[in-house]
Amino acid sequence: MLRRIYAVSVSPARTDKPSPAFIQTAAPDELDPAPGLINGIDSPHASIPPWFLYDQIGSRLFDVITVLPNYYPTRTEAEIVATNLRAMCGARDVTGAALIDLGAASCAKAPPLFDAVRPAQYVPVDISVEFLRDAVTKLQTEHPEIEMIGVGTDFSKELVLPAEVTATPRLFFYPGSSIGNYDPPEARGFLKRVRRQMDDDATLWIGVDLVKDTETLERAYDDDLGVTAAFNRNILRNVNRVAGTDFRPAEWRHVALYNEDRHRIEMHLEATRDLVVTWAAGQRPFAAGERIHTESSYKFTLESFEAVLHDAGLDTIDAWTDPQRWFAMFVVAPST
Ligand code: AVI
Repeated sequence: MLRRIYAVSVSPARTDKPSPAFIQTAAPDELDPAPGLINGIDSPHASIPPWFLYDQIGSRLFDVITVLPNYYPTRTEAEIVATNLRAMCGARDVTGAALIDLGAASCAKAPPLFDAVRPAQYVPVDISVEFLRDAVTKLQTEHPEIEMIGVGTDFSKELVLPAEVTATPRLFFYPGSSIGNYDPPEARGFLKRVRRQMDDDATLWIGVDLVKDTETLERAYDDDLGVTAAFNRNILRNVNRVAGTDFRPAEWRHVALYNEDRHRIEMHLEATRDLVVTWAAGQRPFAAGERIHTESSYKFTLESFEAVLHDAGLDTIDAWTDPQRWFAMFVVAPST
């Protein structure tokens, strides 16, 4: 059941051309994020939740990151899918599915699947339908045969699909190793939420970044052009906007380190001098060299990710990697 429907626009003025439906199941700004943000900044080990990286500028910077030579995940995953798409479809029947694209953003990753999957419905899900609107409207004109339903919901907290998603089987698509941006308990919680939306015949295709040498990993998150550094520093502009702080991004240095014990890249911002950050009701001094943790990106082995899936009530049907075994695409089913 939908928690709340904020906006639904279904039918086009002209009936000869199909147009997508858009459903917002919860207002993205329903809760004021400022107190939580301030709490994180004000704590001894300062942190900012990674989703604040993705304001308008941050989302564009991330799009640029995905085409940087150093950032291998996006192109490696695309190669794996292009090479193995028939086999992925053969591993478990997904023909005519409702293709549910989690974190669809610009909807760029789903269209290459359409010929093989022939989805009856395409359901891109992102935090705001406004963000999806342009991309889905354009995609609908290119694929009038597929019913398209854009869903705005914060699926990092809850995943509820509207009753309009009727096609079966359901194929959930979660590419890009975004699962790695959750800490392990949250990753399990997220996968359990997906599992609850899966009937016995449903399938999950999920992309996962694999453990590899530290140099390759750190170069992917600290590129020569400084795009990832800009992406990281931009979080401070967003925090200033949301929480009324007075961060000056130029005073912070981008740091990306692979934590071998925890199998994760950590992005931090490091104060380049002693400074004080203020907001309406307080302030927090930072010593030169002190860091704010802005993102973790966990890396898995095939076995460790299979174990995460298993904990969430999911079984691996098959998995494909690139020749270097840098990235993997899993085909997953509900445990029986
Ligand atoms: C979105 N996510 C999977 C990216 C990653 O690789 O963890 C975010 C990113 N952060 C820095 N570069 C890319």
